[in-house]
Amino acid sequence: MRNLLVAGGAGFIGSNFVHHILNTYPDYRVVVYDKLTYAGNLDNLRDYANDPRYAFEQGDICDAARVREVLQKHDIDTIVNFAAETHVDRSLTDPGSFIMTDVYGTHVLLEATKELGLERYHQVSTDEVYGEVLEGRTCEMAPIQTRSPYSASKAGGDLMVMAYFTSFQLPVTITRGSNNIGPYQYPEKVVPLWVTNALDDKPLPIYGDGLQMRDYQYVLDHCEGIDLVLHKGVPGEVYNLGTGTETRNIDVAHFILDLLGKPKSLIQYITDRPGHDRRYALSVEKVRALGWTSRHTSYQALENTVRWYVDNEWWWRKIKSGDLYREYYKQHYSGREVDAPKR
Ligand code: NAD
Ligand code: TYD
Repeated sequence: MRNLLVAGGAGFIGSNFVHHILNTYPDYRVVVYDKLTYAGNLDNLRDYANDPRYAFEQGDICDAARVREVLQKHDIDTIVNFAAETHVDRSLTDPGSFIMTDVYGTHVLLEATKELGLERYHQVSTDEVYGEVLEGRTCEMAPIQTRSPYSASKAGGDLMVMAYFTSFQLPVTITRGSNNIGPYQYPEKVVPLWVTNALDDKPLPIYGDGLQMRDYQYVLDHCEGIDLVLHKGVPGEVYNLGTGTETRNIDVAHFILDLLGKPKSLIQYITDRPGHDRRYALSVEKVRALGWTSRHTSYQALENTVRWYVDNEWWWRKIKSGDLYREYYKQHYSGREVDAPKR
């Protein structure tokens, strides 16, 4: 394993993974293959723009001819697939683009892996495929019980990966990560949205009662876990990656406001997301046995993340002041304000 194609490497987790790989393995080459949707951003990779071990190729994972051309041009032996449409709220209004990229695009990459006889294919997936977990935690054998078009599309991708393992003995692995936070996350996702709104003294929109729970993990911990599974994971196996603890959204909002010295009056309750999954909770015993555990607690991850957004206004102001973002924000959030729930 030497020449990696990182599909979706200009997005949040993919770009952190590129940083991690190039910092960890001096003899690896990384080719980022990315369509550069609204979520793809070459600013995320600017530290490596002149590194001879790094190359960027723009392209769609649904474009089989372009995928094959790039794989051959760079003599790729391994694909790590981060490319996806990723925001649950957008999947409610435009599910078709999720099905195309997350299911059909995954199939295109698997076909190319098969045809070119690559050494390894790794799929980056999510805890959301298990559906909401009201009690206990889900291990890798738990049933797929998706509830949003996003999670259903990701599950479709995972099932194709396993089908290629069973039918064609493709050397595949899958990781299912919990919610990531850290540098370079597009400010539609809750933590960067709240942090950057708070910095501008704007309201922090909270869906429903704010008591939903997520396992917030630091993105570089997640990248280390993917690295370990890529090198030590058993083909055909799925590994969960997360801290193994959950935090309520309202507690996340309070923590951010306290860190920034901003008032709680910035919290604004809004109508809930349709079909909002109440809780995700992973069992991470399997990957712990392989030798990985996350280095940061959720609150340490939050603290690092808040600090990064404070220090890197150059990165997020450009996005938030753009027409595309402002239009999305207006369409998605305006007119949804409700009174605070009675506790
Ligand atoms: P992101 O939205 O920040 O980035 C996605 C990247 O994929 C972007 O660079 C985008 O341009 C690219 N892309 C989208 N469609 C493409 C296509 N058709 N062809 C090529 N490139 C395309 O996403 P992220 O948060 O970095 O998530 C990366 C992966 O990790 C996704 O597969 C996601 O499902 C999974 N995941 C995310 C989280 C999380 O908390 N963000 C948690 C677990 C798993
Ligand atoms: P999000 O970052 O969209 O990730 P996901 O839904 O994939 O877990 O949302 C994380 C949690 O925060 C989720 O419970 C929904 C909630 N949320 C809000 O309360 N307000 C917001 O403006 C957003 C975007 C999310």
